[in-house]
Amino acid sequence: MATIGNMLKRSFSTNVAKHAIQNVTIIGGGLMGSGIAQVTAQAGQSVTLVDVSNEILKKSETAIQTSIARVAKKLHKDDPTAAKQLSEGVLSRIKYVHDTEKSVENADLIIEAIIENIEIKHKLFKVLDQAAPKNTLFASNTSSLSIAEIASVTKRKDKFGGLHFFNPVPVMKLLEVIRIPETCDETYNSMMAWGKSIGKTCITCKDTPGFVVNRLLVPYIAEAVRMLERGDASAEDIDTAMKLGAGYPMGPLELADYTGLDTGVFILEGWHKKFPDNPLFKPVELQKKLVEQGKLGRKSGEGFYKYSK
Ligand code: 3HC
Repeated sequence: MATIGNMLKRSFSTNVAKHAIQNVTIIGGGLMGSGIAQVTAQAGQSVTLVDVSNEILKKSETAIQTSIARVAKKLHKDDPTAAKQLSEGVLSRIKYVHDTEKSVENADLIIEAIIENIEIKHKLFKVLDQAAPKNTLFASNTSSLSIAEIASVTKRKDKFGGLHFFNPVPVMKLLEVIRIPETCDETYNSMMAWGKSIGKTCITCKDTPGFVVNRLLVPYIAEAVRMLERGDASAEDIDTAMKLGAGYPMGPLELADYTGLDTGVFILEGWHKKFPDNPLFKPVELQKKLVEQGKLGRKSGEGFYKYSK
């Protein structure tokens, strides 16, 4: 039974986030990492964006420049000087670096947004655990792996959580904050407060496959592909139906193309392996076939639809 002292302690720690986060290191300069870097810098915080590939870092820089220019133009429609100042301010707060160990020297929070491979994530977090100050908080932006499994190689599970963003990061208002049993109140509260500080609405979910959004979205998209496979309706009609009949901004097949068919296949296969009896996680042949043909969606120029560059 909770004592009054414990209850007070808990209520104090749920209201006060002691860890004011100002320096954020993001590992992985892909679409998600770049988006997280942008929104963090937009909130006035210092960002270090790390990637081992020079080419990816160059691409991230260009993507952030384009995206922030779009945001600035929207916010300051009639004032190009203010728009320019906003863009320049944001860009000046982002450093692009290669050296992972050096990049975390002053980090209050590290967010990992690298490839969805547990061995590679383990290797990275072992290095980070050694290199980062002992108070630095660790988070993963994984969309489908277990946070507890990722955190298992570190000695700071109390400072570990999931921070799951959505694509496009500057536009989607949600942030899923995931606690593992070892995540302490202070870490959780700091993560929730940080999410709010960068303008996101935070929700909490246990460390379950796909958390809330992907747990619902991935099986929904899979069933849409099965409908197409069965010939129940055309791709265009499935998408139109969900846009006009359910008010979604994109239909399921458009969304699959947008997030990448390879991502969808990877998530379903991983979950199916772990939970073979769950029919919702059964891989879909057509989705796999398209990926084998290199049709990965928007990023490759073709998926369920064709895209001009
Ligand atoms: N940076 C900044 N602003 C952007 C942007 C970017 N990268 N992309 C779009 N925008 C802004 C535009 O400026 C525009 O703003 P305005 O309406 O105020 O002028 C607004 O967003 C809409 O953009 P567009 O007019 O270009 O296009 P649409 O109206 O078709 O919207 C969309 C595009 C926002 C992507 C919309 O279709 C949408 O919300 N789709 C659903 C996306 C979704 O479900 N994402 C979640 C995927 S799951 C996921 O990410 C989980 C992961 O683990 C895989």
